[in-house]
Amino acid sequence: MKNNSYKIIDFNIIGDNLGKLIALENNNQIPFEVKRVYYIYDSLHHIIRGKHAHYNLQQLCICVSGSCSFLLDDCQEKNIVKLSSPTRGLYIKNLIWREIFDFSKDCVLLVLADDYYNENDYIRDYNHFINIAKENR
Ligand code: TYD
Repeated sequence: MKNNSYKIIDFNIIGDNLGKLIALENNNQIPFEVKRVYYIYDSLHHIIRGKHAHYNLQQLCICVSGSCSFLLDDCQEKNIVKLSSPTRGLYIKNLIWREIFDFSKDCVLLVLADDYYNENDYIRDYNHFINIAKENR
């Protein structure tokens, strides 16, 4: 997929006899400054979430419990990425169509974003996304 539209980031695990800990800092493990955090849980196995792209938003998605899969589409190529570990994050740039599916019962998907929620930043129509993404290639 073109110039790092998305990437997997493996986090450093701080482990001792108490258990494990992962620390994420702005502009360090997180490649931007976080303005918003949300999490998705109790999604049924058969449902598909997402089905949108953003004009201008960076996100880091971490499956802190359970697992789920992402379909990532940059208008030229589609890839599937499965998240099943709290030790890795999926960084997604703007103008990437994503669909999230195959949720395990215990899935908790934590999402860090570089901006506040803004419905105007969403592209929810796939054909519109294709047009905008092609213009921006
Ligand atoms: P949406 O982003 O469409 O969810 P998904 O892509 O995971 O299927 O958001 C679902 C609803 O939640 C929608 O009505 C907008 C609302 N919402 C907020 O109010 N704030 C947020 O930060 C997010 C991500 C969604």
